[in-house]
Amino acid sequence: MDQTLKQSMMAYYSERAPEYDEIYTAGKGPTSINDPLTYKEETNRLKQIVNTLCAGDILDVPSGTAFWLPSYAHHCATVLLVDQSLKMLKESRERARQNGLEDRCSFLQTDIFNYDWAGHQFDTVLVGFFISHLTAEEESLFFSKVCDALKPSGKLLILDSTWSQERAKTRNKEGEQARKLNDGTEFTIYKKYFTLADIETLGKKFRLTFDVHYFGRTFCAFSGRRPPTT
Ligand SMILES: C[S@@+](CC[C@H](N)C(=O)[O-])C[C@H]1O[C@@H](n2cnc3c(N)ncnc32)[C@H](O)[C@@H]1O
Repeated sequence: MDQTLKQSMMAYYSERAPEYDEIYTAGKGPTSINDPLTYKEETNRLKQIVNTLCAGDILDVPSGTAFWLPSYAHHCATVLLVDQSLKMLKESRERARQNGLEDRCSFLQTDIFNYDWAGHQFDTVLVGFFISHLTAEEESLFFSKVCDALKPSGKLLILDSTWSQERAKTRNKEGEQARKLNDGTEFTIYKKYFTLADIETLGKKFRLTFDVHYFGRTFCAFSGRRPPTT
């Protein structure tokens, strides 16, 4: 990805940290489905899925505000939360503290693409709303990194945004988008949306058989494991 676009996207998420959760809790922010209740209801569906499927040692990457943390961490051994944004990590720490989860959480500020995961092995890797911001080249690099970080029986759980005729009324399926903070500051980001066929193609490309747990008006959740090595 063009470095100017990447920097804009990172700056946007960093500055948006204090208001980021509004999309989940109130259907506010960069919405493209004109129905706040849908965002709230589908967030609750994702919370249930995260609660059911996350187990053991977890890598939450990138973790943003750690919005999903209280839904999974109570029954997990350790949680590593990774993000490039100190402001996002500040929100994460506060959420961990408020939920009495600090004892099992570690926080790491890094650009995922520059980080060497060698030596880290996780039971679950949770990837929320990130691969939709990656170009095909970045996607390949990211999948290779997270698959290497999975224990042999480990699971990759992805939460992301769905494509539909309804979404097509306000968005392109893929490309640059303008994003505004609540104070009106504008940024440009890259974003794409997933059909069920895209999820299947993604699984084939990275040799993961994905189970789709949810495919809604706005969000989806799917998980996969690495094939056994022969
Ligand atoms: C759309 S948010 C998703 C956050 C969280 N996973 C969730 O589901 O709410 C994307 C996050 O990716 C982080 N991010 C973007 N590029 C990154 C990179 N190269 N390395 C680390 N974090 C990155 C941003 O700072 C932001 O917190």
